Amino acid sequence: MEFNQRIARISAHLHPSNPQMLENQVLRQSECRAKGGSPGFKVAILGAAGGIGQPLAMLMKMNPLVSLLHLYDVVNAPGVTADISHMDTGAVVRGFLGQAQLENALTGMELVIIPAGVPRKPGMTRDDLFKINAGIVKTLCEGIAKCCPNAVVNLISNPVNSTVPIAAEVFKKAGTFDPKKLLGVTMLDVVRANTFVAEVLGLDPREVNVPVVGGHAGVTILPLLSQVKPACSFTPEETEYLTKRIQDGGTEVVQAKAGAGSATLSMAYAAVKFADACLRGLRGDAGIVECAFVSSQVTELPFFASKVKLGRGGAEEVYQLGLLNEYERVGLEKAKKELAESIEKGASFISK
Ligand SMILES: NC(=O)c1ccc[n+]([C@@H]2O[C@H](COP(=O)([O-])OP(=O)(O)OC[C@H]3O[C@@H](n4cnc5c(N)ncnc54)[C@H](O)[C@@H]3O)[C@@H](O)[C@H]2O)c1
Repeated sequence: MEFNQRIARISAHLHPSNPQMLENQVLRQSECRAKGGSPGFKVAILGAAGGIGQPLAMLMKMNPLVSLLHLYDVVNAPGVTADISHMDTGAVVRGFLGQAQLENALTGMELVIIPAGVPRKPGMTRDDLFKINAGIVKTLCEGIAKCCPNAVVNLISNPVNSTVPIAAEVFKKAGTFDPKKLLGVTMLDVVRANTFVAEVLGLDPREVNVPVVGGHAGVTILPLLSQVKPACSFTPEETEYLTKRIQDGGTEVVQAKAGAGSATLSMAYAAVKFADACLRGLRGDAGIVECAFVSSQVTELPFFASKVKLGRGGAEEVYQLGLLNEYERVGLEKAKKELAESIEKGASFISK
């Protein structure tokens, strides 16, 4: 094969075309073909050039279950794509820049991960992000409804308690809503809970599993410390300390970053842990159970985070909360009150 053709063939990351390369008549976009083709899933990251998006893209490129990785953003997507594409792992990486390339980014995707949007600054609540992020999530979900309506969606953009209802309304309007396939990512709350509980118990965090239910903001984050595995018990002071620390984990990072954003690295780790669980479910692995904010009948609210079983169809089963202690029952009532408002705010953003 001719040298230039060979170069063109391995240059999957040059799609979308780099203007400098276009001047070089040898490397035309149409000649660029992805190499590889290892079996696996097609995954898109929307907001891939951001603080979460970049480490998330890197970690997904390392995931052996991914065969094709589409990186979409409104800025810097070609740079991140070129960089990540040099990693010698199986997944083929392609970049997509700006609204005009959204449809190409989404077509054929089986899992779409969305960390697009603005993060919190000190003094802001997740709800303060609503105005900007609501519009971004709406646009991206309209693209998903059109180009990959069967994809599983992992929604990270805050406020998750409202953006998931927004996504649901967009999909309902388009006639593509499958409640099993829309998952708000609350895994970072679980990751934090596992870490903080392990610290208190003096255990390896990898051995600890804390269910965290409710939602993903302040008091709506409800760790069920009575259901921690391995079985253990906490004093009232420990329960109070742990619950608060888990609920305020995001704020702890926002304050420490002092204006430079919110959690990105631990979030990317948590997002990949969750996406990997979704992919193993899609592959047909048995017994994959994680917490997520989903369409739910566990409480009277239309959306709620709890343990779900991940399978070929997405969140195939949503589990009940199990036995709660008095502290958790009080926390649940508080969580539901705030959640109801956030859900309503999201839903009415689309229906108004
Ligand atoms: N679910 C969680 O647990 C959790 C945790 C931390 C942060 N977050 C949220 O994740 C989001 C991203 O955080 P970050 O720190 O990566 O922010 P960031 O500002 O570093 O990155 C966001 C990226 O989104 C891109 N973007 C903006 N508008 C877009 C659009 N219309 N289409 C595609 N991409 C677009 C930006 O260009 C940027 O690259 C925020 O909303 C943040 O609050 C969620």
